[in-house]
Amino acid sequence: MSEISSQERDYLPGLGRHFLMPLYDVVHRVFGLARVHDEMITLAGLRDGLRVLDVGCGTGNLLRATGKRHRNVELTGVDPDLKMLARAERKMRRAGLAARLDRGYAQELKFPDDSFDVVFSSLMLHHLDTPSKDEMLAEVRRVLRPDGVLVLADATLHDHDHHGRRKSGSMKEHLRDNYGDAVAKRIAAAGFTLEPTRMRTLRIGGEIGIEVAKVH
Ligand SMILES: C[S@@+](CC[C@H](N)C(=O)[O-])C[C@H]1O[C@@H](n2cnc3c(N)ncnc32)[C@H](O)[C@@H]1O
Repeated sequence: MSEISSQERDYLPGLGRHFLMPLYDVVHRVFGLARVHDEMITLAGLRDGLRVLDVGCGTGNLLRATGKRHRNVELTGVDPDLKMLARAERKMRRAGLAARLDRGYAQELKFPDDSFDVVFSSLMLHHLDTPSKDEMLAEVRRVLRPDGVLVLADATLHDHDHHGRRKSGSMKEHLRDNYGDAVAKRIAAAGFTLEPTRMRTLRIGGEIGIEVAKVH
């Protein structure tokens, strides 16, 4: 794992609080997120030799599932949370898989232009405030090769009142950007052409929209 030097930023951890980190993989299982990850991998159209980046890779579940299905893709993960990354590293090692795991932020990806063929991001977007979401998408577009693919999954909300009081800087506040087709529109505005959103219902925890977007 490498600690790429970048400006320290605040970030919202996996379950909203650092002390909940050890529970992350349990929650992942209970929500049934593995099915979403499997679908993301299928949608990415991976083949040998492709370079894959997972932005906000957390404990490495998507990277591990990708590596198990496609032994010969090049895997990279970025996340600001060193404990999540340490867990990801252990899990990859136990599975006999290699990945580059960097500490870093979606808004400031430390890779040259055109470094990746596929970028994944799973349930990370709602951890960012509105300007950071646009910074992230600009960065993803920059590091993807022309014609590269972004496969992004995030919560979709339908009911504006559902989330009640929203503290500034909280996940609930950031989720305000996820009503209806707002995520798809944001991605399109960043210079991508999108397939229709695929809506999936988690075992618990609501609805997820999966976006498949090509750089244009
Ligand atoms: C809900 S977890 C999702 C983890 C993983 N992608 C998955 O599907 O299991 C959100 C992740 O986003 C990471 N995160 C928060 N802010 C971030 C940022 N600015 N850049 C990159 N990752 C971030 C958190 O550390 C956490 O690992």
